[in-house]
Amino acid sequence: INARLAIDPHFTVGDINRRLFGSFVEHLGRSVYGGIYEPSHPTADADGFRGDVIELVKELGVSTIRYPGGNFISGYRWEDGIGPREERPRRLDLAWHSIETNEIGLDEFAAWAEGIGSELMYAVNLGTRGIESALDVLEYTNVASGTFWSEKRIANGKKDPYNVRMWCLGNEMDGPWQVGHSTAHEYGRLAVKTARAMRMVDPDLELVACGSSSASMPTFGEWERIVLEETYDEVDFISCHAYYEPKGGDYESFLASAVDMDRFIEAVVATADHVKALRRSDKTLNISFDEWNVWYQSRFNDVEKITAADEWPIAPRLLEDSYSVVDAVVFGNLLISLLRHADRVTAASLAQLVNVIAPIMTEPNGKSWRQTTFFPFAITSRLARGRALEVRLEAPTYATETYGDVSLVDAVATHDEETGDTALFLVNRSLTEEVTVQIDVSRLGDVSVTSAQTLQDDDIHARNTIDDPERVGMQENTSARVADGTISLTLPAVSWTAVTVR
Ligand code: AHR
Repeated sequence: INARLAIDPHFTVGDINRRLFGSFVEHLGRSVYGGIYEPSHPTADADGFRGDVIELVKELGVSTIRYPGGNFISGYRWEDGIGPREERPRRLDLAWHSIETNEIGLDEFAAWAEGIGSELMYAVNLGTRGIESALDVLEYTNVASGTFWSEKRIANGKKDPYNVRMWCLGNEMDGPWQVGHSTAHEYGRLAVKTARAMRMVDPDLELVACGSSSASMPTFGEWERIVLEETYDEVDFISCHAYYEPKGGDYESFLASAVDMDRFIEAVVATADHVKALRRSDKTLNISFDEWNVWYQSRFNDVEKITAADEWPIAPRLLEDSYSVVDAVVFGNLLISLLRHADRVTAASLAQLVNVIAPIMTEPNGKSWRQTTFFPFAITSRLARGRALEVRLEAPTYATETYGDVSLVDAVATHDEETGDTALFLVNRSLTEEVTVQIDVSRLGDVSVTSAQTLQDDDIHARNTIDDPERVGMQENTSARVADGTISLTLPAVSWTAVTVR
């Protein structure tokens, strides 16, 4: 099977915001406790953070980190997590039917994020709380000194303000599972009032209004319109969340999940621009795709189990999905979709980072390892620099039950004007056939391929586990040839490939 692709450094989609390579740490399961934080671990630093995890997070190359939830935020009292540890209360975490010990809070997490060179993106609780607690935490993080909360921060050992720029106004308030679940009108009103008050403290904050928790919510579309009609002038982003998994063994549709992400993004952009027109506004709203991943929601039901047993464990094993090669190919394709929309998706957070639907796994007092999804993220974050390019792609299609006929191949390119580097990211969605792609790079000048690596395996269900942590990894793709301004490259069935050209 053959496909053709043409790239031109002038066909620009938009600049790639580094925030596209963000992630997400929620107080959920073993994400914080036993994930990033495990004081008894041999690699733990003086603050109890695992050194092996810090190294892997750095290697992953995450920019912004969204914290502390997620569903958790909608019942959280941020001030429980500051000050002397021995005075911090234990609370019920209703979202995950667990006990929150509050051993880790804002100060510890901010220090950890700073240590790995990531930007903290903070969420406020618009479930059980509202304007006042949002203002309090903002005062704690961003006011220099001389007020109740800023002085508390200083007393807690942090002299300089954190100066947090990006704030989520609640989380998934459209979802019936959310503590404080609201109608779009209710949420829109609370979000705009909170945003206005927060801007009185700092007009330059970047605020994210909650969009739908998935495109399949019954209120999707209307939710965005109503929320944005209330909040448009006061916010900078509307959020998107999407998780994918194979349904009923339909891997053809699963491999085309990025088609759904494309449609989702385009629908939200259309809705935001519709509200822009209604308001005769000059301002353009962007998307913060602040939860995305493969998540086997239907396979694991650990939360239901502890709920049914009426147990309230501390840091239980929840949502510890183990990712396969096919999952990583879909995942890599989701990154392609995000890059393709770099003009409007200017922030994104892979949900999540450690142990909970995560690229990094750990065992208590034991090993840490990279899941299959680690590789497309780390490589795309490292190579996708400068601006995203629109590619011209001609490829055969295949039939899917969920999305109709879709392209067998998907691709995006990026170009960094400063270094002259071009990167290409491609997937072959075929379950059985390899595809050879002829890539016209003549408009880049006289270039050659500087690297080509592919993620694939004869067993598409192969995965990395504690016993075999390096079973799956990247392999050099030795098929790449350049002649007469054209690269010829073979993509194995069910594969994700990154190529650099200079
Ligand atoms: O990432 C796991 C959960 O998925 C988050 O807490 C919630 O926002 C979403 O439903």
